[in-house]
Amino acid sequence: MSQLKPTILVTGGAGYIGSHAVLALQRAGYGIVVLDNLEYGHRELVEDILQVELVVGDIRDRPLLDKIFAIHDIAAVIHFAAYIAVGESVSEPAKYYRNNVSGTLTLLEAMLAADVTNLVFPSTCAVYGMPKQVPMTENHPQNPMSPYASSKLMMEWLLADFDRAYGLRSVIFRFFNACGANPEGLLGEDHNPETHLIPLVLLSALGKRESISIFGTDYETSDGTCLRDYIHVSDLADAHVLGLEYLLQGGTSEIFNLGNGNGFSVREVIETAKQVTGRDIKTVECDRRPGDPPILVGSSDKAQKILGWSPQYSDLSKIISDAWQWHQRRHQ
Ligand SMILES: NC(=O)c1ccc[n+]([C@@H]2O[C@H](COP(=O)([O-])OP(=O)(O)OC[C@H]3O[C@@H](n4cnc5c(N)ncnc54)[C@H](O)[C@@H]3O)[C@@H](O)[C@H]2O)c1
Repeated sequence: MSQLKPTILVTGGAGYIGSHAVLALQRAGYGIVVLDNLEYGHRELVEDILQVELVVGDIRDRPLLDKIFAIHDIAAVIHFAAYIAVGESVSEPAKYYRNNVSGTLTLLEAMLAADVTNLVFPSTCAVYGMPKQVPMTENHPQNPMSPYASSKLMMEWLLADFDRAYGLRSVIFRFFNACGANPEGLLGEDHNPETHLIPLVLLSALGKRESISIFGTDYETSDGTCLRDYIHVSDLADAHVLGLEYLLQGGTSEIFNLGNGNGFSVREVIETAKQVTGRDIKTVECDRRPGDPPILVGSSDKAQKILGWSPQYSDLSKIISDAWQWHQRRHQ
């Protein structure tokens, strides 16, 4: 089938969410070039499964970026490449600011030099910090509580300034907890180290981990454990295509939350995982972790209204069974 739609540069496209976005773009008919340094990404996802052009390199490498923009007629960039581990960002903030902020600055300057002025950018609900009301809307005050979250907010500021000064338009998505896997079993989550609850629970079900720690059982929630908004990665991927199309049609810069709208507790996740996998999952109850909000749930009304986006996979069993299908294959 010949390609009718323009070519999109996807940074970090060999990672978890980026690879799902590449699949969604591919199915929507776009040409794709992936730029990933493979520090955390997986070559086989891009080259074998998605069969898309992969440039192995770094977003901080300006000559490489200039070369990519010179060779390909890029209409827009979707920029996933970043370091993402909150805990590590506390002990090694320089690493996070250098890659996430300084790397993004290099990318934006290369885009401007090549006259590419459309960018879709995944930010995070962590820019809000401790919730003052739930569900959180895009107007919620911002109070990032880690260098990772600060780096994402700084990138949002860069984008606002680049729009004002240079006309570089962006769609910023603040997402809640990305989870699940491609429902056909093609792609999934494979972070190393893994810090996210659902894959950790499934690694326990597979016997790859002793147990799951539950941090805090005395919160003011229905069962005492923290409530989070889990959003299926394929729903996130579809939102990136909608965000891209909004920009290509001339839309102005906007910020959107992307969440499921429902909160699920840590215990609910573990119980659902036991039902889905049919396996026992050992838990250990621990003290609260400092800075963990009891409830984090987002309102995605704005994305629904402006982009026409709504999550297709909001059921927790579906999210976990898609992730389980992937984890079983990956670790067989
Ligand atoms: N996972 C979540 O729950 C979540 C939530 C909110 C926002 N996000 C954001 O979504 C994006 C993707 O997250 P993910 O979970 O897919 O992470 P990931 O680690 O799986 O993917 C990131 C990819 O970027 C690549 N990369 C990192 N630095 C690079 C650089 N300097 N040059 C080139 N490639 C580089 C890595 O190799 C990796 O393939 C990140 O920007 C993250 O901040 C993720």
